[in-house]
Amino acid sequence: MSPRISHVLAFACSLSCLAAVPLVAAPTPTVTVDTAAAGAPISPQMFGVFFEDINFGGDGGISAELVKNGSFEFADPITGWRKVERPGAAGSFGFASAEAPFPRNPRYARLTVSAVGEGFGLRNDGYRGMGVTQGARYAFSAMARVVAGEAQTLHVELLGAKDVVLASAEVPVSARTWTRISADLLANATEPKATLRVQLSAPGTLDLEAVSLMPHDTWKGRRNGLRADLVQLLADLKPGFIRFPGGCIVEGRTLENRYQWKNTVGPVENRPVIYNRWNVEFADRGKGAYDYYQSFRLGFFEYFQVCADLGAAPVPIINCGMACQFNSGELVPLAELDPYVQDALDLIEFANGSVSSTWGRVRAEMGHPEPFGLKFLGIGNEQWGPQYFERYAVFAKAIRARYPEIQLITSAGPFPEDPKFQLAWSEIPKLPVDIVDEHSYAPPEWFLNNSQRYDRQDRKGPKIFVGEYAAHVPTRRNNWTSALAEAAFITGLERNADVVVMSAYAPLLAHMDAWQWNPNLIWFDNLRSAGTANYAVQRLFSLHRGDIALPIKVEGAPVAENGQPRLYASAAWDKSARELILKLVNATAGPQEVSLALAGTSGPIRGGRAIVLAAALDAENTLDQPAGVAPVEEALEPVGAGARRTVPAHSVTVLRLPVAR
Ligand code: AHR
Repeated sequence: MSPRISHVLAFACSLSCLAAVPLVAAPTPTVTVDTAAAGAPISPQMFGVFFEDINFGGDGGISAELVKNGSFEFADPITGWRKVERPGAAGSFGFASAEAPFPRNPRYARLTVSAVGEGFGLRNDGYRGMGVTQGARYAFSAMARVVAGEAQTLHVELLGAKDVVLASAEVPVSARTWTRISADLLANATEPKATLRVQLSAPGTLDLEAVSLMPHDTWKGRRNGLRADLVQLLADLKPGFIRFPGGCIVEGRTLENRYQWKNTVGPVENRPVIYNRWNVEFADRGKGAYDYYQSFRLGFFEYFQVCADLGAAPVPIINCGMACQFNSGELVPLAELDPYVQDALDLIEFANGSVSSTWGRVRAEMGHPEPFGLKFLGIGNEQWGPQYFERYAVFAKAIRARYPEIQLITSAGPFPEDPKFQLAWSEIPKLPVDIVDEHSYAPPEWFLNNSQRYDRQDRKGPKIFVGEYAAHVPTRRNNWTSALAEAAFITGLERNADVVVMSAYAPLLAHMDAWQWNPNLIWFDNLRSAGTANYAVQRLFSLHRGDIALPIKVEGAPVAENGQPRLYASAAWDKSARELILKLVNATAGPQEVSLALAGTSGPIRGGRAIVLAAALDAENTLDQPAGVAPVEEALEPVGAGARRTVPAHSVTVLRLPVAR
C-alpha cells in the first residue's frame, strides 16, 4: 500500500487549491446542448457502489451482529470477551474444540464455576461497544451444553455505563448435548456502547458456542440481517450495481488469507472465520483494528440478496490466483490455477444456476430459488503486470466457453496513469475483455484536470468501469473540496456514456472508532450514520442520471492557469420524465453566469426545477450534522431556449427542464 500513499502525496495540493487557482477572466460562457440529437444510451449501471470489508464495513458495520468473536475463533480466542468474577464467585474460563457443533469453527468456550457468588460468567464488548436503542428488541442466541454439575439458568443482560442493566433475560440450559438457546432482550434505554453479560446460576461446567445478539430491527427484518440505517443510505443512492467484496480483501495478504466465496455461504455459524487483512494493514493509521476479522455473517448470499433488494446489478470480484501485490504478491502457478477457475464457474452457477444444479441448490436452500441474474464478473481486484494477464487469459477462456453471456471485467492496476496502467492497456486488446476497471485515488486537482480524460478514449475498445475513485485532500477529509472535484470529473463520465458504463466512489463505509482508510463515502458509529459531502454528489448524479447522453459544448469557460476549464457540464435526456437534465459544476470561487443555448427546442420551458449543492470548501457532513452539505431545490420561472443562469461559487447544479424532443 505504501507506494500508493507516496504517489498520492506527490500530487498533493493544499485545501485551498480550488480557491487559489488564478483564473483567466472570460466573457459569459455558453453551454450549448443539442436536445434533438440521438445521443448515446447511459448505462443503468453508470452509478453504483463499491462495498469492501474495510474500516469495520462488514463485521462491526453493515452486518447487524453485535457480538464480536461469538465463535471464539479469533487468533486469540479471548478477544472481545472478559471473564466476569464478581464478589464471592470463583471459577475458570477456557477453550475446547472436541465434539464441536460447527466443525469449520470448532473452538468454543468452557466455563467452570465452583462458587456463583454475585455472578460468574463472561462478557462481550461488541465492536467498540454495542449500539442499543430504547424500546428495541434484541435476539440473544447461542449453542450450549451442560458438561458437569447441575442444570443452569443463564442470566443474560445488556449493560450500559456503570453496568446499569438495560435489558435482561433468564435462559435455561439443561441438555448434556449441544442445544440452541435463545431469548429476547428489550432495551429500556439507548446506549451506544453497551456490553453483553452472561452469568451462570449454579456450580458446574458449561460449554458455550456461536454466541449472537441480533437486533430485530434489521434491513427487511431478516434474522442474519444487515444494519437497516446503512442499507437505507445505500438504497437512497439508487445504485445501479454493487461491486463486492473488495478491494484488497479479495486478494488477501497471502493466498491463504484471500476471499473464498464458498466459505461464506451456508449456515452462518459454520463459515470459517479468518483475519481481515485490514487488521494489520495501516496499523499506524486511523484507529487500529487488531480485532478485525471476517466472520462472513455477511457472505456472498447476503451480498447477492442486498443487490436484489436494491435493484442493483451484482458485480462480484474473484481472486485470480494472486495475493495482494502490495503485500506478498504470492502467485498460483498457471498449472495449478484450475481450482480458482472452478470457483469462478461455480460462482456463476451459484448466482444463476437452476435449483437442480449443485450450486443453484445451495442458493435455493439458503432461501433464494430464483436466480440472482449475474451479468458481470471481475477477475482479480487491483492487479497488474504480465502475470496478471497470463492468469486473466486462463479465466476468460474457461468462462467465455461456458458462460459467454457474462461480461468480464479486467483490472488496469492501481493508478490511472503509470507504467502498470500502460502495460495493462497494451495487453487488453489481445484478450477477451468487456470492461476495464480503472482506479484513481488522487488530489482534487487531478480530478479537475481529468474531466476530459474519456473524451480521448478509443471507441472501438472495451468499455470503462471507473471502479474505485476518490479525491484525496492532504488531510484526507471528506470535505466539499474533494466532492466538488469529483463532481467535475463525473460530468466527463456522463459526457462519455458511450464508453464509460460504470463508476463507484471508494471506499464505501467507515466506523468512526475503527477505520484504517479515509476518505470514505459513509461514516457511522454504533447507532448513527451519515453520508458525506461526497455521498451528496454521488446521490445527486445517480438520482438525476437520465437515459441518453446528449452532446454538449461549453464555450468561454473560465480556465485555471494550466489552461484547464473550471466550468464543467453534461446533459442527459430522461425518457420517462421527458426532461432535459443539465448539470453544471462551477469550480471557481465566484458565482458564474452561464448562457444556455438549447438547440432543438423552443421556449418557453415551464415546470423546470434546479437542484443545487453548494458549500464552503471545507464543509463536511458529520454524524452530529449530517446535512451540512445537502441539495436545495428550487422551482424555475418559465425560461426560453436561450436563458441565462447564475451558478453559485463552488457548486453543482442540476437543471431539470421539461422540453419537447
Ligand atoms: O479502497 C481501498 C483499497 O484501494 C482497495 O482495497 C484497493 O482495491 C485499493 O488499493
